Order: sequence, then structure tokens, then C-alpha cells
Amino acid sequence: MVSAALHAECGEALRLRDGHGRALTDLRLSVTDRCNYRCVYCRTGNEGAQFTELPIATYARILRIFVSLGIEKIRLTGGEPLLREGLLDLIRETAEMRPAFSDAPLDIAMTTNGHLLAPMARKLKAAGLTRITVSMDAVDPETFTRITRVPGSFERVRDGIRAAQDAGLGPVKVNCVLLRGFNDSQIEAFAEFSRNENVIVRFIECMPLEEDRTWSPATVVPMKEILARLNAVRPVVALPANHLSETARRFTFDDGVGEIGIIAPVSEAFCGHCSRVRVTSDGKLRTCLFSQSDHDLAGHMLRGAKDVEMESRIRDIVQHKEARHHIGEPGFLKPSRSMVHIGG
Ligand code: 5AD
Ligand code: SF4
Repeated sequence: MVSAALHAECGEALRLRDGHGRALTDLRLSVTDRCNYRCVYCRTGNEGAQFTELPIATYARILRIFVSLGIEKIRLTGGEPLLREGLLDLIRETAEMRPAFSDAPLDIAMTTNGHLLAPMARKLKAAGLTRITVSMDAVDPETFTRITRVPGSFERVRDGIRAAQDAGLGPVKVNCVLLRGFNDSQIEAFAEFSRNENVIVRFIECMPLEEDRTWSPATVVPMKEILARLNAVRPVVALPANHLSETARRFTFDDGVGEIGIIAPVSEAFCGHCSRVRVTSDGKLRTCLFSQSDHDLAGHMLRGAKDVEMESRIRDIVQHKEARHHIGEPGFLKPSRSMVHIGG
């Protein structure tokens, strides 16, 4: 019988770490690169792109291997994950997995655009999903449609958020990517939305990850400006970080109602405590959003690699995880693949 303390000590030595000594505890898996929206900062307006999905069993195997290496938080992303057949089966199977070096249950979150959420919310909760984030870039229906390029989308997403709260998936996080000239007029309205709907609104500075080459520093609405405008609505009070690798700076208002997070990868990069790795819908390990190349895991599995071989391959790959991104610096290269394939 190994004592709990010894077990914890061994765990720290064995858990997945990158070459900078950072423990990797957080995995994002894209379960499809298809999407029913065509957000302007993500996709081109064109249809007909080639998409790749793997069988649900392959995603489940990838998740199991990573959980055995020390992953404690899984986020299912897309494209749009609710488009993926078999998603509930994948969640059910994942909910059976236990973190290798922690007694806490696995945290299984999802980022969705919310369009298909209302009728799915209870099923997702019953399958074992623990948390949900809904991407929603405006609270004004017209502005929303200008961004998603799908008419009538705002009401569906708002109803999806409410259904998720009713299903016990709250507090729901709402991600808003701010884009100068598109939705920067919505900051104050989002503050009200957080207070009225009891959701955590997170403003995200736009990163150069779009298919179209439209990003420039001028499209970014920086954290300082967001905070100043929130303060003009009501005095803002900072909240403590939940954990070291948290990407959002958290705030509430002076009456404690509402919660706002600001994620500022451009103006205040937070790479130092990064605990994340990503697997794309075609089964490639991506060590940073801004990686110039990916590492094929699914192909290796298809060629018959055993779990132990996959584990050592993954350990090798993450040794080279990037220290940080270089957005805004001279010579910055856009990543080889856009957000379409990476998934949040
Ligand atoms: N910059 C910042 N965030 C982005 N997202 C998609 N593209 C970008 C970008 N270029 C966000 C989505 C969603 C999450 C998966 O990533 O809005 O909330
Ligand atoms: Fe779809 Fe999300 Fe991209 Fe919008 S940002 S097109 S919802 S994947």
C-alpha cells in the first residue's frame, strides 16, 4: 500500500511536463472542424472547405492516454462540437476516466457557439459534462448576425445559455471576442447581460488566427480600454485568480453583481504559466495556438502504436512546447493553421 503522500510525490515526478518545467494539466480536443456559423474573425465566408473528423473511439483513446499522463481538465471544442454525432457517447466515456495524479474528478468542459444548445443542455449534463462556455460576440441581434453571418442566431444562442443554466451547467461563461468596428459598442451592454442573466462574460482580445488575413493590431480592443469602459458603467472591483494558469483577469462590480473576465493574450500575454495542449480534429497534437507545425498522433495510432508508445511520443513532443507566442513582435509568423482547425 503506497501512502497518499508518496503517491502524490511520485505523481509530481511522473506527470506530463514541458521542457520549461510547466505541468500540462489542460487538454483541448476538437471533435469536428465543421461549423454552422462563419464568424468573421474565424472563417472565410466561403463554403466548400475540406473537413476532417476521426471516429469517436479514436478521440476517446487519445483522451484516455492524456488522462493517464496527468491531464485533469478536458475541453471539447470544434468547429462546433454540437454538430458532431456521437458527442454524448464521447462525454459519457470520458466521464468514466479518473485523473492519474489527483483525487478530484475529471473536469469536462465544452466551448460551443450555442446554436444547437437549448435542446441538448440536459442530455449534456446527464452524460457528464461539468461546465460550458458559449461564444457570443454581441447582445444586439443585428450586430450578432453581422459577425456570425447567420440570421436569427442571437435568440437561439441566448435560449441555449438559459437552457444550460436550467440544466445545472451554470455558471455559464460567455466568450466575446472584441473586434474594433464590429462589436466594441457592445461592452456596456455585455456588462448588463452579465448582471441580468447571471453569466460570467469574458472579453477576449482578438488574435491573428483567422482564415482571412484581416487581423491587424488595430482590430484589437485592449484590456485597458475595456476596463475603463466597464468602470464608467459602475465601479469595477478585481477578484482573485482561481489558479495560476488562469487566462482571465476577473472582475465584478461594486455591488458584487455580475462577473467579467478579460483575456488579453495580445496586450498582456499570459504564456508563462501555460498548462495547455491541443489536439486537432484530425488527431494532431498542437503544443501552442501559434505553433508552426503539428504532430500526428492519430496516424501513429492507425499504424498500430501501443498506448505506452503513444505516451512516450507525447512526452517527447511536449519537451518542445513553445515558451510563449510572439504576437505583435517584428517577424511574427501567423500559425500554419487557423482557428477553424485548432478549436479554441
Ligand atoms: N481570437 C480570439 N479568440 C478567438 N476565438 C476564435 N477565433 C479567435 C480569435 N481570432 C474564440 C471563439 C471561441 C473560442 C473557441 O475561441 O470565439 O470563444
Ligand atoms: Fe464557428 Fe466558433 Fe469559428 Fe464562429 S468562431 S465560425 S462559432 S468555430
